[in-house]
Amino acid sequence: MFDKRKIAEKFALSEHIVIHPGDCLDLLRVIPDGSIKLIVTSPPYNIGKEYEKRLKLDSYLEQQAAVIPECVRCLADNGSICWQVGNYVRHGAIIPLDTLLYPIFTGLGLTMRNRIVWHFEHGLHCSRRFSGRYETIMWFTKSDGYTFNLDSVRVPQKYPGKRYFKGPNAGRYSCNPLGKNPGDLWVIPNVKSNHVEKTEHPCQYPVELIERLVLSMTDEDDWVLDPFLGTGTSIIAAIRHNRRGAGAEIVPKYIQMAKDRIKQQLAGTLRTRPMDKPVYDPFKAGNSLTTAPWNKKQNDKQEGLFDKPARKHGCAIQ
Ligand SMILES: C[S@@+](CC[C@H](N)C(=O)[O-])C[C@H]1O[C@@H](n2cnc3c(N)ncnc32)[C@H](O)[C@@H]1O
Repeated sequence: MFDKRKIAEKFALSEHIVIHPGDCLDLLRVIPDGSIKLIVTSPPYNIGKEYEKRLKLDSYLEQQAAVIPECVRCLADNGSICWQVGNYVRHGAIIPLDTLLYPIFTGLGLTMRNRIVWHFEHGLHCSRRFSGRYETIMWFTKSDGYTFNLDSVRVPQKYPGKRYFKGPNAGRYSCNPLGKNPGDLWVIPNVKSNHVEKTEHPCQYPVELIERLVLSMTDEDDWVLDPFLGTGTSIIAAIRHNRRGAGAEIVPKYIQMAKDRIKQQLAGTLRTRPMDKPVYDPFKAGNSLTTAPWNKKQNDKQEGLFDKPARKHGCAIQ
């Protein structure tokens, strides 16, 4: 069935979907105090992506320090802020941005609930350090009475259906039959070339990443806000679960992409990677390219060792 919700440009609590075509501070200023349940965003990382002017780290932090207090003002007392960042890289040295931003949030009275490590497999290959394969989501709340719907995001246990075999609980489930807590290390593919959600945007969120946050930290009809909206992923994750979604974006090309994707979501035609789909495993998939060159050498070497008389190595090989 076609979803009749419309995309507005001006924020009002009566709307369902808002895309402000401009600076996020202008959107934040018109949002009433305490009205947003979840603010989730990946701000420009200051690593020189297509949409960023490369700022000195100090200016970048000043810019963030102007946006964050406005977000805190808009946040509901039982609401959450999820700020997702990576590393700033300068002359081969990395600076984890979350360590620099953490004091801004705690200085505004917020409490950190988790530092979620989002691990993914694809990205630049480094030759002078290990390739970066994670980013973090800092989750802060305004009070201790925050919404957290754990049951809606539980994941299957490793050994589901396990039961106590003795004692007073014998025969009962020893694990939660609804599944386990997903923990604070999330393995979710990032949106690179072959990903079904890929657009031209260089750093798009996978929808499933935000769905987990939306489902656990908001209830139906709550507002979800992304001040740095990009291609509209946070709004898509929100409206897919009957929440309201708002965001700001300054680049016209990305505004159009966000609108197009949201319209596809409303029409039920947006293709996304499902939340419960296991991560591709080349071994399980029987990929013939899994015998890598170094394995071959290693195997040859081991075969070579086995060819030699066992006694030479001081052990008996059966
Ligand atoms: C890391 S990207 C976010 C991508 C987004 N998470 C997605 O899934 O598509 C940051 C976005 O913020 C936008 N941006 C940068 N400065 C902005 C500002 N002052 N106000 C609103 N948007 C801004 C950039 O154009 C960029 O698209």
